[in-house]
Amino acid sequence: MTTRRPMIAGNWKMHKTCPEAEDTARALVGQLTGKEEAEVMIAPPATALVPVSRIIGDTPVQLGAQNLFWENQGAYTGEVSAPMLVSAGCRYVIIGHSERRQYFGETDEGVNKKIKAAVAAGLVPVICIGESETERDGGKTFSVLDKQMEKGLEGLSEDQFSQAVMAYEPVWAIGTGRSATPEQAQEVHAHVRQFLEKRFGAQTAGAARILYGGSVKPANTAELMALPDIDGALVGGASLKPDTFAEIIHYKR
Ligand code: G3P
Repeated sequence: MTTRRPMIAGNWKMHKTCPEAEDTARALVGQLTGKEEAEVMIAPPATALVPVSRIIGDTPVQLGAQNLFWENQGAYTGEVSAPMLVSAGCRYVIIGHSERRQYFGETDEGVNKKIKAAVAAGLVPVICIGESETERDGGKTFSVLDKQMEKGLEGLSEDQFSQAVMAYEPVWAIGTGRSATPEQAQEVHAHVRQFLEKRFGAQTAGAARILYGGSVKPANTAELMALPDIDGALVGGASLKPDTFAEIIHYKR
């Protein structure tokens, strides 16, 4: 049986100036023992990647970006490429977050190009999928997620996908304080893993980490993490305060 190392990731979204990000990263590092069972990742805004990278240095905290553009360089004003993120110290990049889909016109086709660009540069994509409340109420959760995965992962080889991390973030649970129930989350995570198995085979699907995101907090982390197909959390609001995020990281204590 494959063992999957849990991962607790903090998506800071559009929060924190450079000095604030540095203070938060420093305080977080101070809360860690280095013996954490979970891999820890933080994704500050683009402006804070380099300063935060200097602070987390050789600590167990990994750096992630919140987005990228699929070309490596060129006349794409305002965009940041995968090689640029690597040079800033990133190992991970979040791709296809529902806020990018909702506010910035991110499509499954764009997500697909971004995943390929990330992998080509040696970054690990954290691929976000999730249904809206209307879609869930209409019984469309699985079909929506399947379409996001079919198109988002189109053309990816097993080898290209092998390092990728999936993140299930039901849109209705993001920033609402209303997390999916453990049953709802486990049902979807099992479905996602079955999809991956059909697409990439049992070994790759068994090794793939699938994170849950949506109103994760210290009080609900342990019960979510206890479920067989939940391998971690992608945390928004509760990752902004180092003490709270450290409590989530140490969910077993
Ligand atoms: O990417 C994390 C996120 O969308 C969840 O946000 O604030 O509900 O934890 P939040």
